[in-house]
Amino acid sequence: MKENRTVLVTGGLGYIGSHTAVEFINKGYNVVIVDNLGNSRIEVLDGIESITAVRPHFYKIDITQKEELDRVFKDHPEIDSVIHFAAWKAVGESVNKPLKYYDNNLNGMASVLEAMTNNNCHNLVFSSSCTVYGQPDVLPVTEAAPIKEALSPYGFTKQVCETMIKDVVKSKDDLKTIALRYFNPIGAHESALIGELPLGVPDNLIPFVTQTAYGIREQLSVFGDDYNTEDGTAVRDYIHVTDLAKAHVAAIERLIDNKNNDTFEVFNVGTGKGNSVLEVVNTFEQVTGEKLNYKIVDRRAGDIEKVWADTAFAEKNLGWKAELTLADALKSAWEWEKYIRAED
Ligand code: NAD
Ligand code: WQD
Repeated sequence: MKENRTVLVTGGLGYIGSHTAVEFINKGYNVVIVDNLGNSRIEVLDGIESITAVRPHFYKIDITQKEELDRVFKDHPEIDSVIHFAAWKAVGESVNKPLKYYDNNLNGMASVLEAMTNNNCHNLVFSSSCTVYGQPDVLPVTEAAPIKEALSPYGFTKQVCETMIKDVVKSKDDLKTIALRYFNPIGAHESALIGELPLGVPDNLIPFVTQTAYGIREQLSVFGDDYNTEDGTAVRDYIHVTDLAKAHVAAIERLIDNKNNDTFEVFNVGTGKGNSVLEVVNTFEQVTGEKLNYKIVDRRAGDIEKVWADTAFAEKNLGWKAELTLADALKSAWEWEKYIRAED
């Protein structure tokens, strides 16, 4: 319990940021959120308040605007930690609009590092991604695996942001940082009051599954069944967003308590287990009782075959381990889908 500690959450009204804000509030932290609502809705603040009975301080600002971000630190000199989520995240869009991604994700990172440095803020946790590994040569993939050439401009921004943090840490004595490499975050809060809100046609598997089951999409396309996997469909490490949110609490507490071994550390945040697309489909049908209309189509360009995390390093050093199952996550995603559609 870190009462009276204040954490700044950039992108805190987004999917992972909102679940993380809830976990910090539940642990007794004060939470300040900044978000430009570029990929989220203001109603998420109500969801966080309904779950926790606390309404976090909120600033609608664009973090690339340095003066505006600086003003937040000036308003809240008690902020001693930052969790940096704010970025664009659509892999496909980043291929078509690379400059949109370089502009927001890299300038946003620079702005956060500068504001922290100028305001004596020493602890940073950054949202990185397993995409930095590409298709790993060895599975499960450890944090020591080589960084492969990025498969998209989005993936490249994650690699560059990690390097930016490393460089700034080298130039400052008092900055402590952790990059969390998320695998595939899915699911929603158990209350079904917050969850993932993709705009338009979803790129990611789970929102496509829930929208198909709800009747918003006619059919799920399963991209490829000729991979070198047990049932031929691609394999990922799907992590419940609540478990992922808790990893951020563990990471911030490691920094606050000076338990870090280095001023830049990297942790995989996954379950350690791989599941195929067809396993996801079958588990969804089992836990919800809904029948999914799907068909096998060609592979999606740019997809890797299989990846799942080696979680030993995080378990040992963060004292964190995923606890919820794929079934839990899919059930919560379905409850959330029904909740938002009823709201519309
Ligand atoms: P999200 O889009 O739901 O949340 C990001 C939030 O940041 C949004 O609310 C958006 O409005 C805000 N934002 C974007 N640019 C901003 C800016 N310049 N100023 C202020 N706010 C800004 O995405 P998410 O799924 O919650 O992802 C959070 C982070 O985790 C991102 O950095 C993403 O790249 C990373 N990540 C996500 C996944 C995933 O599959 N969801 C996997 C690995 C890493
Ligand atoms: C999962 C599996 C698809 C949709 C992406 C980013 C990655 C990270 C997480 C941010 C794949 C298959 C999907 C569909 C399908 N994000 N699929 N039909 O591609 O593993 O990872 O999100 O850092 O960087 O690349 O996630 O949910 O899109 O796909 O068959 O309609 O589901 O081929 O095997 P992905 P995803």
